[in-house]
Amino acid sequence: MSDPIDFSLTATPGRVLPTAVRGEGCRIWTSDGQEWIDACGGAMVMSVGHCHPRLVEALKRQAEQLTFTYRFSFSNEPMLELAELLREISPMPDSWAFFNSSGSESVESAINLVFLYWQERGRPEKTGLISRVPSYHGSTVGALGLSGTARRDDYEALLDPNAIAPTPGADIGARRTPVEECAYALAELEAAIVARGPETVGAVFIEPITGASGAALTPPDGYLQGVRELCTRYEVLMICDETITGFGRTGTWFGVEQWHVEPDVITFAKGVTSGIVPFSGMLAAGHVAEVLMRRPDGFPVGHTFSGYPLGCAVGAEMIRVIRDEQLLDNAAARGAQLRAGLEHIAAGSPHVGQVRGMGLLQGIELVEDRESLTPRAGATARVVAAAREQHLMIYSCVTRVGSRVVEAVMLAPPLNISEADVDIVLARLEGAIGAA
Ligand SMILES: Cc1ncc(COP(=O)(O)O)c(C=O)c1O
Repeated sequence: MSDPIDFSLTATPGRVLPTAVRGEGCRIWTSDGQEWIDACGGAMVMSVGHCHPRLVEALKRQAEQLTFTYRFSFSNEPMLELAELLREISPMPDSWAFFNSSGSESVESAINLVFLYWQERGRPEKTGLISRVPSYHGSTVGALGLSGTARRDDYEALLDPNAIAPTPGADIGARRTPVEECAYALAELEAAIVARGPETVGAVFIEPITGASGAALTPPDGYLQGVRELCTRYEVLMICDETITGFGRTGTWFGVEQWHVEPDVITFAKGVTSGIVPFSGMLAAGHVAEVLMRRPDGFPVGHTFSGYPLGCAVGAEMIRVIRDEQLLDNAAARGAQLRAGLEHIAAGSPHVGQVRGMGLLQGIELVEDRESLTPRAGATARVVAAAREQHLMIYSCVTRVGSRVVEAVMLAPPLNISEADVDIVLARLEGAIGAA
């Protein structure tokens, strides 16, 4: 058989990637019959692995009934059901839901929400948005404008410089204690709000634990509580982007619950449907939704596919699957196993500067040596390539933090991964780090 030609605009010009033909759990098979272990769910998408039978069944059932409604004309049953289920699992009281198709879209909807909320409250000047470096909130103009990432470089002329406060833990070379790091990051966030003028700031956007940027940077205890206090004090909405941390990834439904914090808005995506259909959404706390619903036109924004019945049906089934299969507990247990294994690998390699994360979201920072903590240039690409040699997929997280280019990789296997498969992931990763 001749090699296929790829006429899609790929990110690997001149090179055709292996053709995936089947997926099950944390495994993918390619057209040449090779088996791969997907330990990062592509880009942290596969919350219950590939092709979970109950999700596939929910999709089929809904597809035979109704596949589309336009939100300005009809409601639909799966959407009503999912909004109700989300109320049960939301860490915010009396949450209301809104649905989109991608993480970037839900962040855009959250930006829409900020504007409409403050207009309705008679404070239309509160349009300023503050976010952090490093961070990643998506590729659309509003979401990329919030992102503190090198991915914005090519489009800087289009973007607002929203990302200005530091994400705690991003510079391990600073060697601050968690208490110092927390105080530093909160002081910088407060300074950013004050410099912008609190009366003009509408919201702060935060990933509870970072994903694509920074490789699972996990805040010190007290940080998210401190952000909550600052947001309350300066009358600013606290928006948590849980695109990566939502739907059980850290062992709780949403990452922010690990610190018992109630934000005002949560965005979610990826894991909500585990790759069955593109789908995402946003939750607004009751006190926020109540203001929006005072408007005669409520929340009049959205995209053609907002409230997509297929996505809602799969999302509702996802919540039942996580409950029935006790996957929050499994994420915590397998996460502890994964973490212990990563610490063991770190102990045996001078090039692992830090292991971080929570539950089944774990990052490894690669350094020259543990004394200097200098980033090991090019190490991420080498480790990812060596892992591929072993048919192990891990996520590459090269992140710019000031003048420092952090080298790191990340793991995000499915919440239902088995103990034996965690061991396989660890063995292959150890081999890859050794080889690289
Ligand atoms: C925290 C976060 N927000 C938003 C997005 C954007 O999601 P999408 O690629 O589905 O638009 C991502 C993607 O990685 C993300 O990690």
